[in-house]
Amino acid sequence: MQFNLAVLPGDGVGPEVTYEGIKVLQAAGKKFGHSFDLHYGLVGGVAIDETGAALPEDTRKICQRCQAVLLGAVGGPKWDDPKARVHPEDGLLTLRKRLGLFANLRPVKVFPVLVNSTNLKPKVIDGVDFIFIRELTGGLYFARPKRQWRTSRGRRATDSMTYSEQEIERIVRVGFEMASGRRKKLTSVDKANVLESSRLWRQVANEVATDYPDVALDHMLVDACAMRIIQNPAYFDVLVTENMFGDILTDEASMLAGSMGMLPSASLAGVPRQGVNIFGMYEPIHGSAPRRAGLNIANPIATILSVAMMLRHSFGLVKEAQLIEIAVDEVLQQGYRTYDIMDEGKTEVGTRGMGDLIAGKVGS
Ligand code: IPM
Ligand code: MN
Repeated sequence: MQFNLAVLPGDGVGPEVTYEGIKVLQAAGKKFGHSFDLHYGLVGGVAIDETGAALPEDTRKICQRCQAVLLGAVGGPKWDDPKARVHPEDGLLTLRKRLGLFANLRPVKVFPVLVNSTNLKPKVIDGVDFIFIRELTGGLYFARPKRQWRTSRGRRATDSMTYSEQEIERIVRVGFEMASGRRKKLTSVDKANVLESSRLWRQVANEVATDYPDVALDHMLVDACAMRIIQNPAYFDVLVTENMFGDILTDEASMLAGSMGMLPSASLAGVPRQGVNIFGMYEPIHGSAPRRAGLNIANPIATILSVAMMLRHSFGLVKEAQLIEIAVDEVLQQGYRTYDIMDEGKTEVGTRGMGDLIAGKVGS
């Protein structure tokens, strides 16, 4: 089969890890007889430097003509001035909004061979395998009013946490669908003891639950959830939550896997169901890591696992996705590590080395 993919390498380590992701994708394509037409575009700081916009019109058009987008990372100190008219992150946020990517899937899985790479005790992280569903186009990130202004008594600023029942319903449904295909346990995370938007969230979650009688739904306050992620992470199967809560909790949860360099993500424009291909954007969650850029040290595994998610959710290529996931596991089993997950007695490799090893396994 033939597929069209938009590739947006972006800033920092983005181009390096994207290159390895594509390497592994091509290896899988060659093995199974698929061809992937790649359409490159600018986003983030590099786009600001070249065009003045964080998301040039051209890039948006490229994405809209493709079935999926692979993104590296955006941002860096060069574009960090809070007074600047445009920021690299605006490119990412506009992409999410304009492409309708409301469902952000962030799986957190501890590879048994990496138990020594995390800061937590092995007995705490043993068996951790859950997935966060973060709402991605509403809530505190996007709702209006959102502005800064001057008053006679000084400056003021506001952001809003507003949700419609439709926005809540569709994201909670993603949670139930994912839970149906897994251990049938959904935790909806909110702050219903304080926030009105969370009270609506909880009501809507309970209403949607009646369509999924075989999934057990529980509600957890976001502060308690932050604690439980460290205290007993194996408790969770699927979690669903508001945009900002999800942003914070997924960084926290990434530490269970030993390194942010291990965690992929998918941002989808629909409810994932077996046998349905959904438009999506795929990216590692680690960001641009500017200090590591250009050194051939960044861990490409998060991007490579994002490619696997793309094959599964946007291209319907499930066995190809599994092959990539198995290849990652095998290379780790054999003792190869990038610096961020390096351990005594293991063999340290760079970004390209890790990509070559995984692509080699996929192609063999
Ligand atoms: C993420 C990032 C982004 C976010 C930034 C880069 C805008 O932190 O994907 O989690 O806050 O959503
Ligand atoms: Mn984040």
